[in-house]
Amino acid sequence: MGALDGGSLVGKVAIVTGAGQGLGRCHAELLAAEGASVVVNDLGEAADATAAAIVAAGGTAVAHRCDVTDWQAAEDMVGAAVDTFGDLHILVNNAGFVRDAMSFSMTEEQFDSVVAVHLKGHFAPSRAAGSCGVMRPRPPVTAPNCRPVASSPPPAKRSVRRSGPGQLRQRQRRHHHHDADFGP
Ligand SMILES: NC(=O)c1ccc[n+]([C@@H]2O[C@H](COP(=O)([O-])OP(=O)(O)OC[C@H]3O[C@@H](n4cnc5c(N)ncnc54)[C@H](O)[C@@H]3O)[C@@H](O)[C@H]2O)c1
Repeated sequence: MGALDGGSLVGKVAIVTGAGQGLGRCHAELLAAEGASVVVNDLGEAADATAAAIVAAGGTAVAHRCDVTDWQAAEDMVGAAVDTFGDLHILVNNAGFVRDAMSFSMTEEQFDSVVAVHLKGHFAPSRAAGSCGVMRPRPPVTAPNCRPVASSPPPAKRSVRRSGPGQLRQRQRRHHHHDADFGP
């Protein structure tokens, strides 16, 4: 695992939902490699496996099994992060799935499950994180090759308030060039 001591996220606490496998596990491992303490969420024992792998690699993680579409469970998950690590700075709402089907062959159950995990399953943890006050505005967290992740509005929106359309277009062109510096 990478920069555990000197990482850009030392002292930060993160929750990653659906981190038992796939992209969520990658997010959790990367955050831990950058020094964050990670709450690894998933429905079942896959959460434990990811947390164990992070700890085995020298990182800090705990598993928290729950269904993120459950309002109370989402609150408990945020509470677990605060109880265990004292704070919460990062929430990655990754849990989700698609039930590939044609519109005419999709069942109501498939439709409802996808909407639940991608809508309520993102809202409930976000709400819990916000309502317990730990996701309050703070200085931005920056990582190499990334823009700051913060509460401030994106530059183009700020410029709408401060200037007219001509200046906005100029700024957008400048930002376009700036973005090109951060290409793949
Ligand atoms: N893989 C892709 O190409 C791709 C593309 C676009 C978007 N996404 C989205 O990215 C996310 C992760 O994709 P992936 O390919 O790694 O998926 P994946 O199926 O490999 O992993 C998703 C994880 O979420 C967990 N999960 C599902 N419902 C949950 C719930 N209610 N509560 C807690 N955990 C739950 C699953 O158990 C699983 O471990 C999903 O939201 C997916 O829709 C993926």
